[in-house]
Amino acid sequence: MTTLVTGASGYVGAHVAWHLQALGERVVGLDAWLNRTQNPLPEGALAVHGDVGDAELVAQLAARHRFDQVVHCAGLIQVGESVRHPDRYWDTNLVAAKRLLDTLRAAGLSPRVVFSSTAAVYGEPSRLPLDEDHPRLPQSPYGASKLAFEALLADYDQAYGLRSVSLRYFNACGKGPYPGVCERHEPETHLVPLAIDAALGRRGPLAVFGADWPTPDGTCVRDYVHVTDLAEVHHRALAYLRDGGPSARINVGTGHGHSVREVLAAVGRVTGRSVPHHDAPRREGDVAVLVAGVTRARSALGWEARRTDLDAIVRDALEGRALLP
Ligand SMILES: NC(=O)c1ccc[n+]([C@@H]2O[C@H](COP(=O)([O-])OP(=O)(O)OC[C@H]3O[C@@H](n4cnc5c(N)ncnc54)[C@H](O)[C@@H]3O)[C@@H](O)[C@H]2O)c1
Repeated sequence: MTTLVTGASGYVGAHVAWHLQALGERVVGLDAWLNRTQNPLPEGALAVHGDVGDAELVAQLAARHRFDQVVHCAGLIQVGESVRHPDRYWDTNLVAAKRLLDTLRAAGLSPRVVFSSTAAVYGEPSRLPLDEDHPRLPQSPYGASKLAFEALLADYDQAYGLRSVSLRYFNACGKGPYPGVCERHEPETHLVPLAIDAALGRRGPLAVFGADWPTPDGTCVRDYVHVTDLAEVHHRALAYLRDGGPSARINVGTGHGHSVREVLAAVGRVTGRSVPHHDAPRREGDVAVLVAGVTRARSALGWEARRTDLDAIVRDALEGRALLP
């Protein structure tokens, strides 16, 4: 069984690659190395530097490795940047991803696909927790480009029998047990690493966007899912497809939320230093609460998040920050 993992030098992709390799799968990682530093791949996995939209390269890889499965993690991930540069987001998250699938099909392959989708496909919640049938009204080109690729996958299943699972991740965080593998976003926009860096004095005080949300402490509530749980759910999704499961869209979260202030308190406990921060106005497009409905992950994949202790998540993330220059 050979699995192509795209975005394999990135945060989620590297954790998935190591996890699959540890379970005995052959992994080929493809990544354009867009972040300043790259995660290593495990011994035995093949790391290829290149773009998923490079048809010549992907055709060569397809001919050589005859992929049975693809985990498509490669993508651009910043909501704010996607508003300023929608062309880049549509190019990478839809056009290049489409070219990847078309090149694999042209090589005679019909791989099972697991796709890194996002909670950003939902937009403003009209009910909570967000189940998968909640209306999809993305508020950014980032969310819209991810939703468009989900739609393409549905059409490709209908027409070409290409089955897929779109995993809609909520907030990925923490670090797995793999040497040198951590969150290396450039620039970092996620709360846990930003709060750790602020506590360690590696950056200035953290802006808390909105202290007047209709939540118990006034700050935004999000669903933080450990990246090791995330790696495991990819394996479950691949097994589900291998066993003949129909295409599906499945939330990946814990089903529980933590506020910004709760995260800052956890970072304070773990680092032993309080997080310098100041209250700032709400950000446009933000919402008060995003928490995943997790019933489908349980029923379809037999998966649920296990590493839900916030202090433990922060401890792992802290270990990851220590790896960065
Ligand atoms: N991190 C999160 O909390 C989160 C939440 C929801 C969804 N996601 C999705 O998960 C996926 C992985 O996110 P991440 O946090 O690991 O980000 P990341 O930036 O660490 O990894 C993405 C990787 O994709 C690579 N890449 C981008 N465009 C490429 C291209 N055209 N060809 C080849 N490689 C390319 C980058 O070089 C990078 O290594 C993304 O698709 C993202 O949208 C992440």
